[in-house]
Amino acid sequence: MQDIVERLEDMRNRARMGGGQKRIEAQHQKGKLSARERIDLLLDAGSFEEWDMFVEHRSSDFGMADQKVPGDGVVIGWGTVNGRLVFVFSQDFTVFGGSLSEAHAEKICKVMDQAMKVGAPVIGLNDSGGARIQEGVASLGGYAEVFQRNVMASGVVPQISMIMGPCAGGAVYSPAMTDFIFMVKDSSYMFVTGPDVVKTVTHETVTHEQLGGAVTHTTKSGVADLAFENDVEALLQLRRFIDFLPSSNREQPPVRPTADEADRPEPSLDTLVPANPNKPYDMKELILKVVDEGDFFEIQPSFAGNIITGFARMQGATVGIVANQPMVLAGCLDIESAKKAGRFVRFCDCFNIPIVTFVDVPGFLPGTKQEYGGIIKHGAKLLFAYAEATVPKVTVITRKAYGGAYDVMSSKHLRGDVNYAWPTAEIAVMGPKGAVEIIFRGDAGDPAKIEARTEEYRQKFANPFVAASRGYIDDIIKPRNTRRRICRALAMLRDKQLENPWKKHDNIPL
Ligand code: HXC
Repeated sequence: MQDIVERLEDMRNRARMGGGQKRIEAQHQKGKLSARERIDLLLDAGSFEEWDMFVEHRSSDFGMADQKVPGDGVVIGWGTVNGRLVFVFSQDFTVFGGSLSEAHAEKICKVMDQAMKVGAPVIGLNDSGGARIQEGVASLGGYAEVFQRNVMASGVVPQISMIMGPCAGGAVYSPAMTDFIFMVKDSSYMFVTGPDVVKTVTHETVTHEQLGGAVTHTTKSGVADLAFENDVEALLQLRRFIDFLPSSNREQPPVRPTADEADRPEPSLDTLVPANPNKPYDMKELILKVVDEGDFFEIQPSFAGNIITGFARMQGATVGIVANQPMVLAGCLDIESAKKAGRFVRFCDCFNIPIVTFVDVPGFLPGTKQEYGGIIKHGAKLLFAYAEATVPKVTVITRKAYGGAYDVMSSKHLRGDVNYAWPTAEIAVMGPKGAVEIIFRGDAGDPAKIEARTEEYRQKFANPFVAASRGYIDDIIKPRNTRRRICRALAMLRDKQLENPWKKHDNIPL
């Protein structure tokens, strides 16, 4: 017995050392933490239970029979984040570059399967050279096993990918199918084909960072949701993020005690919207002043800035916020913003998170770039997402709600539960000037007449009363009372029940 205990301790120590001290130091020199250090930072102290520490690869080709490291390049197990259960896998770059063998894939699948059974998030800390080259097709099979589980887990438990090193080739498709992708600046990258292949095929010269670094994916491609400065910041923010999420689709979002009164008035909001309807204002100010303690976890802050998405709390319970941002493209909807917000709305709906929508939208962005890029199908994604969502939906129109974009932004007609408007709201087919230019085209040569018609149209539609008289708006509220009214609406909706008709799945325009 004593022998075995000693051998066990010896094996554990060997596993803990991964690819050895030299490689751990090389990892540190790159500014990266080791796989285990990352888990230590992510999880509550002492909560981690490691599984499959003794799993080894089964390959014997290319001298691999003599090169076995217990754990085989991925640390898996479960623990807690602020007391709540999560499953985690953390790839160990010091072992064959974190590359994925058949056994490595089996370990990842094991935590995914268990997370599905008990209903808890899966967090992947990715740092891998891709398929274990020595294993060939067995490794590809391993990837596909993970992909299949990503799809089965989608909408059942939250899946979060933190990219903390290389992630290339087909390996990018597992993170791509998870709910959120976070990256670390300067040390992580994601691409389907690397700079060398790009150079050969398209003759473009591009660095790893330019092609698939954290800045690229959070500002240009929109593949990633957030970029962090380093491993430590990334993992601490990930802890903060997990606090917003329910553990599975079987749960309601977590509630946290708050000292922020539900009926706190915010008089400064009365003057947020400028008198001139063409002047922008910062929608983020409204969000920060309305949510609990000004705590807002923004998703994709540097991509499609014309729409804001993120998580916050109202009376302690998580809500998803979607808001047009008049500071960027006047808050127009375009391809990127529709995709960004559509995906966010669908995440909230999967996980029972109520959606609060702040609307100031002059319409869809015109132009050949948008039309050729398929704004029709992409814009429909957001429309589809709002229409199918059955979670509580509370909407506040602060200023413009024009045209099709009015319908899209969680309108009453898309089963919006509670729809408020500020007195400054303008709900119409389009702005007064554009409307008059079309319906009174014959008066185009007479500026005085046009001015009078514009004023007439403004009086008629550039206010919330016509929509309110039809019941499309439930009430016109004072801006200062926005927090109180949303909190009350959400409390009323807490036990909302609504189901879509049975179907295998819908066919959202992709
Ligand atoms: C086996 C690998 C490996 C791999 C790296 N290593 N990638 N071993 N399979 N895929 C090993 C190296 O041999 C080295 O071992 C150690 O990991 C560290 O690698 P370095 O090259 O020294 O590190 P670095 O300079 O930081 O470069 C990292 C890297 C590079 C950019 C990831 O290693 C690389 O290009 N690797 C190959 C990537 C690749 O082509 N993968 C397959 C892609 S296809 P020692 O013993 O020296 O420490 C794919 C398909 C997936 O993934 C399909 C899914 C459907």
